[in-house]
Amino acid sequence: MYRIIAVANQKGGVGKTTTAINLASSLAHFNRRVLLIDMDPQGNLGRGFGIDIALLTKTTHEVLLNDITIDRAIRRTIIKGLDILPANLKLASIDVEVAKIDLQPFFLLKNALNTMSKQYDYMIIDCPPSLGLLNINALIAADSVLIPVQCEYFAMEAVAQILSSISQVQAAFNPNLEIEGFLLTMYDSRTRLGTEISTQIRGLFKEKTFLSQIPRNISVAECAAKGMPVTLYRPSSAGSLAYLSLAKEIMDHEER
Ligand SMILES: Nc1ncnc2c1ncn2[C@@H]1O[C@H](COP(=O)(O)OP(=O)(O)OP(=O)(O)O)[C@@H](O)[C@H]1O
Ligand SMILES: [Mg+2]
Repeated sequence: MYRIIAVANQKGGVGKTTTAINLASSLAHFNRRVLLIDMDPQGNLGRGFGIDIALLTKTTHEVLLNDITIDRAIRRTIIKGLDILPANLKLASIDVEVAKIDLQPFFLLKNALNTMSKQYDYMIIDCPPSLGLLNINALIAADSVLIPVQCEYFAMEAVAQILSSISQVQAAFNPNLEIEGFLLTMYDSRTRLGTEISTQIRGLFKEKTFLSQIPRNISVAECAAKGMPVTLYRPSSAGSLAYLSLAKEIMDHEER
């Protein structure tokens, strides 16, 4: 039994990749087996583990196009129990390549995951800041969507857009897709906007909003450049503790 969680919001820079990396490392901290999947051509997920992604030849791109099996492309990370399927810029051309061959364009990821032999408790998919083919693939393969919301202007517009995409995917392809939860990121209780957005989201989505909120935290910002999750880089920082608490909330859903 495993759970596939897509981390999605088409708004750029809201903390998707940071959340994917640090949620995954936190789940691994609690002895869960986790696979991280990069669906973003920016490739920041692999970079966050210090992987030199530019010249990789076994990436999400080859897996989606069925050139290699997913088993061959999965790599270990520095965190025990945490593996990764990295991506790089090649993934940007997937739309064109899919058009050339006879594959169902929206089911590439789901089909690839069906062939996987290794067992995991969680798979966390890092989505790109767009609503195109890669995002739809992630939402079709996933059991649930975790939506990071940055506490700043236009946050609510972005939330409305991602909810509309989720409804469309539910209606057409994946009726069982759930909302895992809304996660407030880069939260700063000292700013009026921070508390305003937090109150708005909690008012609208109630128990679907995680109790854990991720503070704006220097260690979280630094850890990516160090090539490691914050739970390893600064285990007792406020950012690390917030992601560990998020992981606990998600594991609480395991009994559902
Ligand atoms: N809690 C935090 N505290 C401080 N900085 C943060 C925090 N979360 C994310 N950041 C920083 O904000 C920037 C954007 O974060 P991230 O790359 O995770 O967003 P994203 O949604 O994945 O972006 P994109 O849409 O480009 O994929 C990064 O520089 C990251 O280090
Ligand atoms: Mg990202």
